[in-house]
Amino acid sequence: MIDKRIAKRIISLCAEDKFKNNPAFYLYDLVSVKKQLGYLEKFLPKNVSVYYAMKANPHKEVLRFLSEHKRCNGIEIASKGELDKALKYFNAENICFTGPGKTIYELKASLDSSIELINLESLTEARRINEIAESKCKVVDVLIRVNSNYCVHGATSTNMAGLSTKFGIEEDDLIGSIKIIQKEMPFIKIKGFHVFGASGIMDSDVLIDYTNSVLDLVSNVEKEVNIKAEIIDLGGGFGIDYTKKNQIFDLESYSSHLKESIDKLGYNDRKIILELGRYIVGECGYYCSEILDIKESKGKKYIIMSGGVNHLNRPNVTGENQPIEIIPRDEEQFPNIMNISGEIVDVCGPLCFAEDKLGKKIFIKSAKIGDILVVTKAGAYGCTGSPLDFLSHPHPEEYYETITEDE
Ligand SMILES: Cc1ncc(COP(=O)(O)O)c(C=O)c1O
Repeated sequence: MIDKRIAKRIISLCAEDKFKNNPAFYLYDLVSVKKQLGYLEKFLPKNVSVYYAMKANPHKEVLRFLSEHKRCNGIEIASKGELDKALKYFNAENICFTGPGKTIYELKASLDSSIELINLESLTEARRINEIAESKCKVVDVLIRVNSNYCVHGATSTNMAGLSTKFGIEEDDLIGSIKIIQKEMPFIKIKGFHVFGASGIMDSDVLIDYTNSVLDLVSNVEKEVNIKAEIIDLGGGFGIDYTKKNQIFDLESYSSHLKESIDKLGYNDRKIILELGRYIVGECGYYCSEILDIKESKGKKYIIMSGGVNHLNRPNVTGENQPIEIIPRDEEQFPNIMNISGEIVDVCGPLCFAEDKLGKKIFIKSAKIGDILVVTKAGAYGCTGSPLDFLSHPHPEEYYETITEDE
């Protein structure tokens, strides 16, 4: 259920003139972001740094809020555009740049800004960085991103390692690659490793096993080559429940196991990074649009919305519905035309292809044309993960709900 405070704000935004011309928007609730950071603050070991993965939601007020919160220790970026945004709110020494295919322009800009870390994705990239660093007479701190042989099973979203992938250096090539970098690239300093197993993990035991596998990998590498991993970046991956089953990622259990593993290996002097996106902002977002039409075709009902996958592509990409709620509006715009009452429907957008759906086989208790349909848990990979320009519809507005003193 959408809480009263948010429902009130949605209704008031829908009453604004802007909504008549562009009946679709996102609302981000900073209270929810604060709550998630509060959990991280309460449970995570103190030597674990939380870096926000900007790709989840780069809205400026989200960035501003995170940059001012003590449990957000830095930011992970994936492009020059994200670098520019990050530098507005975060110190360069708390920025790390990850992602395959960084251009020379992006690498130069990262060096010029003196960001903390570049996560290195291949030997080619290492050579490129070394050359740029040499030209600037700088030594660059990097983490080597590893495509570990360990595969996470049970992620609700994408696997990022443990299979054939474009990310990182293969675990089997790691020792050889380190030796090449150490011998041939004096302007690169290897500060540690980055291994990101998978996104959207709900079962904390799964993530604990993966984390232990990463820590083992690091300790084995240290035994084979003369290196100390001062920094170990475990990537993101804490899931949120997109179903209505109210499951939660057991952060307390994950944190206590992580602490145990850190203690066991004597890694308390290491900097451990978690690059979290979805867990921090996923719950904060509400995508709201207007029901423009309700139709029946060959025995099946469709709700047609003012925005579709052009505004929220995630359900279509992952095949996973997000929770949907209806906020009724008073005016019966077309009282004699079709309504929905306790039915299963597909929720569609206005685009020219049949897969343009915000949700498939959704049970709707009651809805009519003119009501507001709200997709909740749309704060991560929502607006930013969608093809906003397709068919030249207007982009959704993005609003945020601030925190009052007693929250
Ligand atoms: C390099 C990197 N770090 C962090 C994240 C954030 O992951 P999540 O939102 O699952 O926490 C991603 C997501 O794709 C990523 O690619």
